[in-house]
Amino acid sequence: MNNQNEIRTRVDNYIETQSRLDLLRFITCGSVDDGKSTLIGRMLFEAQLIFEDQITTLRNDSKKSGTQGEDIDYALLVDGLEAEREQGITIDVAYRFFNTDKRKFIVADTPGHEQYTRNMATGASTADVAIILVDAENGILPQTTRHSFIASLLGIQHVVLAINKMDLVSYDKDTFDRIRADYAKLENFFSFRSITAIPLSALIGDNVVERSGNMTWYQGPTILGFLESVEISEETDQEPFRFPVQWVNRPNSNFRGFSGTIASGTVSSGDKILALPSRQTATVKDIILFDTKLPSARTHKAITITLEEEIDLSRGDIIVSQTQPSPIANQFEVNLVWMSKEPGYVGRTYLIQIANQSARATITNIKYKYNVNTFEKLPSKELNLNDIAVTTIALDASIPFEAYRDCRKLGAFVFIDRYTNHTVGAGMINFALRRSTNLSNQDSVVTRSSREQLNTHKGGVFWLTGLSGSGKSTIANAAEKILHDEGIRTYLLDGDNIRQHLSSDLGFTAADRIENIRRIAEIARLMLDAGLVVITAFISPFRAERDAARGLFEKDDFFEIHIDTPIEIAEKRDPKGLYNKARNGLLPNFTGIDSPYEPPIDPELRLNTADKTVDACIQSLVTMIRKEVVLEHA
Ligand code: ADX
Repeated sequence: MNNQNEIRTRVDNYIETQSRLDLLRFITCGSVDDGKSTLIGRMLFEAQLIFEDQITTLRNDSKKSGTQGEDIDYALLVDGLEAEREQGITIDVAYRFFNTDKRKFIVADTPGHEQYTRNMATGASTADVAIILVDAENGILPQTTRHSFIASLLGIQHVVLAINKMDLVSYDKDTFDRIRADYAKLENFFSFRSITAIPLSALIGDNVVERSGNMTWYQGPTILGFLESVEISEETDQEPFRFPVQWVNRPNSNFRGFSGTIASGTVSSGDKILALPSRQTATVKDIILFDTKLPSARTHKAITITLEEEIDLSRGDIIVSQTQPSPIANQFEVNLVWMSKEPGYVGRTYLIQIANQSARATITNIKYKYNVNTFEKLPSKELNLNDIAVTTIALDASIPFEAYRDCRKLGAFVFIDRYTNHTVGAGMINFALRRSTNLSNQDSVVTRSSREQLNTHKGGVFWLTGLSGSGKSTIANAAEKILHDEGIRTYLLDGDNIRQHLSSDLGFTAADRIENIRRIAEIARLMLDAGLVVITAFISPFRAERDAARGLFEKDDFFEIHIDTPIEIAEKRDPKGLYNKARNGLLPNFTGIDSPYEPPIDPELRLNTADKTVDACIQSLVTMIRKEVVLEHA
């Protein structure tokens, strides 16, 4: 078909030009009305650039028409992005590809509203330039500062301060100078290599592609001129080789390759590699790109590697140079940008995704968060939407990593809510905490199992949860007494007691309750190791923390018991008069009134003291515990 030939010719020409051009990635940041889309649209239109949908067609056709062999750079470009997308770090970011005769460009087009800072943070991780749009009528706004700060943390080197809508201020030089001077006052807080202020009107076209006749006082570059000529640091081949395995490519039993995108460095066949975290060693056999074998490959290339030796590797593992391996750790200091309306709390567990690896991660300390207008460092117990903070985090597994400044791909991560699967934060590793590499588990000679033999029963954690006044303490106390009389070694951890001593520093804010429950769960873990039957009686209102507690134990060791008393009944009992106080506004953050209680979805046991007598509830619990603590082969 004629049409197909034409497409093919265009593909060939396109690839030919593309392969000779270097690539600049940039992002645009601004609010809805700052004129981002107009700016991009104008650039594409005026320079008569190739539009994204055409490129997509070209790409599909080039695949079909079998020119992949030559389609090297372009396919890689796109594959690299797909890898990012798969990791969930390019959410809601639309990429546009275009080229001029000087350069090819990828622009991450990020939605504009202030709360979409998240898209900025995630779309920006590999950009060379950030175009920060400012409305000439409004000047520098809080989000201008926030976007600039995030761009700086992300290591973006060059900033264009695009002072737009100059037509609305009569192309006034003083307005431009004043905004530029305002921005210059902030410069010390950023670490950009260059900041270039350009006055423009995206709508009219002044200084976008063509020089403006309306602002003859301005001698600097146009936006496109700047993008075409700004010097970007060449990727060096000197960095150590890092290759996160994205998938294991096994089309048949004769072939086993590891596919992914090189995060840094070069690899050649014959290289000695180390697979992390398993520390297996091997030698690179072939480096494969589509059907072609390459002698070597470098950063950003999407390739498949085969090895001389059979080693066991899976998605998320990282192949590194044997002579310069990545460090491995499980605790880090990080910059964290919070992107969720639901606050982030110290002690709460999230999923972390870093390169292709995932693990559970807890914020262990918020060192400070920034006031993004004054750059003051503020103490805080929680992270709110759009906060930028320096925190420490702890993972449940040790992972190979790099500081973000050394390798963006291995140092950038996202936090995901375990229940909603939403991205709630994005961050960058600053360094591993010393304690994460200098502590190791000390095995005791006397084990839990030997203690259980001595006790002649198994240990277990029986976690009671329910509203204040639901009957937790009453049931727990009575059950403990019965079991104790039967010779079972028990210990009861009760809210009111623990809060007077171990947790006397904590109140009833969400952050404090999370920390309270974290401590109790850790103590229960020690007591279980001591061979005891542990009964806990805490409101423990949040599902996330009860699940985190459960996560510390094996399946047969942890049992959640919901004391499911309706609030009306608990409130009627009101043994300590607290509901009454709370209703009268004398006790803030009271569970069930102005602080939430999230009932268990699938507890091991549910006891409703309204339906059953207290005695029957006690018996149910005792029966359960007796059954679960029988020591097999005793
Ligand atoms: S939890 O939320 O962190 O699990 P915990 O069980 O330790 O709470 O403590 C709850 C006990 O503290 C209640 O039984 C009640 O006696 C007392 N208390 C005091 N203030 C509050 C409050 N605002 N909300 C709930 N309980 C409170």
